[in-house]
Amino acid sequence: MRSEFLPFAPPLIGDEEIGEVVRTMRSGWLTTGERAQRFEEEFRAYVGADAALAVNSATSAMHIALAALGVGEGDAVVTTTMTFASTVHVIEHQRARPVLLDVEPDTLNIDPDQLEAAVRGTRGVKAIMPVHLYGHPADMDRVYDIAGRNGLAVVEDAAHALPSRHRGRMIGAPPPAGFDQPNLVAFSFYATKNLATGEGGMLTGPPDLVDAARMWSLHGMSRDAFRRYTAAGSWRYDVVLPGFKYNMPDLQAAIGIHQLHRLDVMQRRRAAIVAQYDEAFGRIEEVETPVVRPEVESAWHIYLLRLRPNRLLIGRDDFIEELRRRNIGASVHFIPIHAHSYYRQRYGLLPDQFPVAQREFERMLSLPLSPAHSDGDVADVIEAVTEVVAANRA
Ligand SMILES: Cc1ncc(COP(=O)(O)O)c(C=O)c1O
Repeated sequence: MRSEFLPFAPPLIGDEEIGEVVRTMRSGWLTTGERAQRFEEEFRAYVGADAALAVNSATSAMHIALAALGVGEGDAVVTTTMTFASTVHVIEHQRARPVLLDVEPDTLNIDPDQLEAAVRGTRGVKAIMPVHLYGHPADMDRVYDIAGRNGLAVVEDAAHALPSRHRGRMIGAPPPAGFDQPNLVAFSFYATKNLATGEGGMLTGPPDLVDAARMWSLHGMSRDAFRRYTAAGSWRYDVVLPGFKYNMPDLQAAIGIHQLHRLDVMQRRRAAIVAQYDEAFGRIEEVETPVVRPEVESAWHIYLLRLRPNRLLIGRDDFIEELRRRNIGASVHFIPIHAHSYYRQRYGLLPDQFPVAQREFERMLSLPLSPAHSDGDVADVIEAVTEVVAANRA
């Protein structure tokens, strides 16, 4: 058994990131400036977007996406219950109404049939927020089709989806030809994400909407600090709307620039770990390995293991506890929105309304997955899971 606890998703930080942070600290400019601009531009080019805006989280990116689209009171926004709270919080922040859907059983992403019905049966729907859960893109053919036919904006929660592809198109790049509704995409650089800056996010989309979001991201000011305090700047600015404080400082961008340079290498390592897990767990009847549809390339943000409850004597919670006793850090993604007291009480939600999400939540766990994990770490996880299953066969 491991002697040291294996953290669930440590970042892989190299000397380049550390050197850039030190140079930033010595440069005299800590907040949003040249490095944030450079990170934005390199990220934009990497995903093939028309425009990009660096912010301090994916939550901020989603919030200002809705603000830039003018989503507000009286509007409804459709998303799923199987996501992190902030996907839904931002809808609440805009005083719009979240419409929560159950998910598809294989990918746990938005169910297009339910989406179609919800859009048809709900008054005031203005936008759809698909979540590319675990890095596996949602069914974007159907999402774009439904949004296009109904004149709805698409704001993608791509917190997990860097880099992911759907039919060869990178998530974050412009939508396929023929889709003419607004489309914005939010990425996360939170500490555990595939590209980690501690806290951070990026919004991509068409230049006009990204410009509008940029205004919302920094107090609604017509001129940011870089354009006020540098030699070329001017002290004058105007405030054109009551914006937020969501800009990404250069200190974070310094990390992001080099994480982006490292991303392809890190992704190859993730894929190698996933292949080892698939190989090992594919042979264990008591568990199910993740599904990947043929038309996608997953970012493999999270490795989802699903237990077969009727074949095991222990449930998910005890399974995670047994892994912890073996010094393996596992987690759960996610406690569905309908199970959280705020949303349960505010909208009177019941687990029966979300049978797939509820059933899958109860049997899911996420295994350690990070490019910082060694082959030895991966072998320890495989050994621990194999042992826990063997000790608890029904
Ligand atoms: C699916 C999903 N959406 C949104 C977020 C929010 O990202 P951030 O922490 O960058 O605001 C997360 C974060 O962990 C997430 O997992």
